Amino acid sequence: MRYSVQIEETGEVYACTEQQSLLWGLAQLGRKGIPLGCRGGGCGVCKVAITQGDYQTGPMSAAHVTPEERQSGVVLACRCYPRGDLSLRVLGKMQRTVCAPGGGDAAKASEQHQPAVQ
Ligand code: FES
Repeated sequence: MRYSVQIEETGEVYACTEQQSLLWGLAQLGRKGIPLGCRGGGCGVCKVAITQGDYQTGPMSAAHVTPEERQSGVVLACRCYPRGDLSLRVLGKMQRTVCAPGGGDAAKASEQHQPAVQ
């Protein structure tokens, strides 16, 4: 089953299956600089807040996500799998690359293709 995941800050939507982590889906956006980190719930770089929708989580470090945060929907994206369409907010280190105005390096690349103003 394929679900839609929306990034609230940018309005972007990506597809993710039940077997794919939310971090995997974020990486598929092709944004240079997405910190993939440990991909095992241990380093904390992929912290996001799920604001809407159902999901399932695997083991993740309590040092990076406290039980209180988990209850309010904060998860590590590498250990979170969708069970329905979701919305999320990016927290911590990933904000710089995911939420950069115009999409960071992707925006720079598209600017290079614009005709020069004379
Ligand atoms: S990549 Fe390390 S906790 Fe998600």
